[in-house]
Amino acid sequence: MRLLVTGGAGFIGSNFILYMMQQHPDYKITNMDALTYAGNLENLESVEKEANYTFIQTDIADKQAVDQIFQQGIDVVVNFAAESHVDRSILEPEVFVNTNVLGTQVLLDASKKYGVTKFVQVSTDEVYGSLGETGLFSESTPLAPNSPYSASKAGGDLLVRAYHETFGLPVNITRCSNNYGPYQFPEKLIPLMISRVLNDEPLPVYGDGMNIRDWLYVEDHCSAIDLVIHQGRVGDVYNIGGNNERTNIHIVKTILEELGKPETLIQFVEDRPGHDRRYGIDPTKIMKELGWKPKHNFESGIKETITWYLSNEEWWTRIQSGEYREYLTKQYGSRLGKEQ
Ligand code: NAD
Ligand code: DAU
Repeated sequence: MRLLVTGGAGFIGSNFILYMMQQHPDYKITNMDALTYAGNLENLESVEKEANYTFIQTDIADKQAVDQIFQQGIDVVVNFAAESHVDRSILEPEVFVNTNVLGTQVLLDASKKYGVTKFVQVSTDEVYGSLGETGLFSESTPLAPNSPYSASKAGGDLLVRAYHETFGLPVNITRCSNNYGPYQFPEKLIPLMISRVLNDEPLPVYGDGMNIRDWLYVEDHCSAIDLVIHQGRVGDVYNIGGNNERTNIHIVKTILEELGKPETLIQFVEDRPGHDRRYGIDPTKIMKELGWKPKHNFESGIKETITWYLSNEEWWTRIQSGEYREYLTKQYGSRLGKEQ
């Protein structure tokens, strides 16, 4: 199989490439990534010299460059490439529309033109909006995105659906809950808090800290996508999640406890505008129809993740320079009342 992975230098994409190279050593994998601030080829150093792995630096919205890659022969596309951080989408929505909507459309056009056998759109539970205290997101929950990020992902999803309905493109859409694990960029809750705890910096908890996310270890997301590629019913959506709902404050306190640091580091700061209160995935469909089961539970997964960040301090300290520091100041400067 000739597999095109877009956004393969990011958090989930790089974990996915490492996973697929182990599971399917006979596949030829092309990683197409624009290398934005979130793309990091260091994640893939262990496979970069493998004969069946190729990296091409390309923006998914660049029609000509994308066409050239498809000309070389692609069977399956897995589209991870995206602007992925909600807070950045509040500061700068435009780039989210360019990549997550227009970029997806460029990939769909090329997939149609060259007749790929499967297009998998890696989407998110955030397209469903926010839950109240009860209930879970199922595949038939109406889309109700609340942030520019989730709205742009929903736009991408709708185009994927339309290319299936109108042109018969063989597609699947996956909608996963919050991932955590190795190589996650330290702007996201878990790696942000781990890195700040290790530097004894204040921990900015939005609002009352009682917002709930449903956490899944990244390798379990990768195994689900692998199943969807091979067994997903064409045209279908699959929700992915491991029933691990936790409040944000619980996550932060768990990290503090694991690292033996005091809760006085916690600072409740001004809430994220439009902050979704609760996410929770009903994974029954993928479990029953495709036989997927997560391998990691949250308690062991978070410990493994903290250990990874402790052992790979160089990886995240290198990131914490330049553009990333400017972003931290924009995002947290006034909330925490000082420069970060
Ligand atoms: P990430 O921000 O870590 O990585 C995104 C990657 O896409 C980076 O390597 C970046 O360079 C690349 N990219 C961005 N714009 C591009 C463009 N125009 N052309 C080509 N490459 C581009 O994101 P992530 O957390 O790994 O998320 C990957 C995908 O999974 C996204 O589509 C996201 O919406 C989805 N998702 C993420 C989570 C999560 O918890 N992180 C959960 C569910 C779904
Ligand atoms: O649900 C899937 C989504 O999960 C993905 O589609 C997104 O790409 C991914 O970024 C993630 O979105 P969230 O907004 O849920 O993740 P984030 O890590 O930004 O925040 C998790 C929760 O923690 C959220 O309720 C906001 C809160 N938070 C976050 C940051 C960065 C804080 O309290 N303080 C912070 O500094």
